[in-house]
Amino acid sequence: MSFEEMDVDTIWMDGEFVDWDDAQIHVLTHGLHYGTGVFEGARCYETEDGPAIFRWDEHVERLFASCKPYEMEIDHDPEELTEATKELITRQDLTSCYIRPIAFYGYESLGVSPGDCPTRIAIAAWPWGTYLGEEALENGIDVMVSSWRKHSSSQIPTNAKTTGLYVNSMLAGEEARRNGYAEAIVLNKEGHVAEGPGENIFLVRDGEIFTPGLSESILDGITRDSVITIARDLGYTVHDNVTISRGELNTADELFFTGSAAEVTPIRKVDNVVVDDGTRGPVTEEIQSRFFDVVERHTDDYDEWFTYIQ
Ligand SMILES: Cc1ncc(COP(=O)(O)O)c(C=O)c1O
Repeated sequence: MSFEEMDVDTIWMDGEFVDWDDAQIHVLTHGLHYGTGVFEGARCYETEDGPAIFRWDEHVERLFASCKPYEMEIDHDPEELTEATKELITRQDLTSCYIRPIAFYGYESLGVSPGDCPTRIAIAAWPWGTYLGEEALENGIDVMVSSWRKHSSSQIPTNAKTTGLYVNSMLAGEEARRNGYAEAIVLNKEGHVAEGPGENIFLVRDGEIFTPGLSESILDGITRDSVITIARDLGYTVHDNVTISRGELNTADELFFTGSAAEVTPIRKVDNVVVDDGTRGPVTEEIQSRFFDVVERHTDDYDEWFTYIQ
C-alpha cells in the first residue's frame, strides 16, 4: 500500500509535529548524497491494553549506538523520542503500526566530510501488515543465495543501522525477486552465511538452533535477540555465535528469518533446494507461535519488552 492510500497525516521532525506533506528536506542534504543516516524500524502491536511497541527501548538504544561511528549527535534524548513516538501514534489513532525513526546529516555544505551539517531527525509511523505476506508466515518463502556479498565490518560497521548500507540489501533483494524468489540470503566476505537483506537467519538441526555470531557481518537484530531468549526459555539449545557454511543451508532441518519487519518467517527453499519436506518445521512453528503470543500480549511474560502507548 502506498503512503497516499494510508490514513496518516503527521510526522515528528526535529522536535515538532508537522503535517505529513511538510516533512521535507533540501535536495543537497548530506545524508541523501552519501548515505550518512542511521535509522530504526520497530513494530507497535495491537493488544488488549492498547497499542504496545515491541522493544522500543532497545531500538532507541541501537539508534544512538549507530550514530557513534559517524560522530553524529542527536539533540534529543531517548525520553523525548519515546514521548514523541507515543504522541505520534495517538494523534494518528494507530492501533498497530511500523515506526521509522531516522537521523541524518542535513543541509549546510556538500564535502564528504559532514563538517557543520546539522543532524536532523524524524519519526514516522504508519500501518504496515506482514512484510513478506500473510501466507509466508505459514508456508514459508523461497530464497536465493545472492551473488552480492555483504561488506565486512572492516569496510562499513555492519552493527550500525546506516542508510548507506542498504544499497547492498536492495541489490540482493531485487536480484532475488527478479529471479522469482521472495528474498535473498547474503553471504559475508568469507563466504559464510550472514543474514537476509533485512533479516537475521536461524538454522535448526537435530532439534538445536544455530544463528551466525555478531562477527559474521550481521546486524545485531532485536528480533534475533528476542527469539534466542524465547527459544532458550522454551528449553531449546541455541548456538548464537557460530559460522554457518553455505552448504549447511541445503541440509538444514529448518530455516527461518527474523526481523522487526519480517517477524518470524519460515524458509521453504534455498536456490530451489527444498528445506526438509518444504513445510514449516515444528521448531519454527513453536517459536513463531510463541513470538506472536508474546507480541500480541496473550501472555504476561516479557512485559518489560513493551512500551504501552496509554
Ligand atoms: C540487515 C538486517 N539484518 C537484520 C535485521 C533484523 O533486525 P531487527 O530484528 O532488529 O529488526 C534487519 C532489520 O532491521 C536488517 O536490516
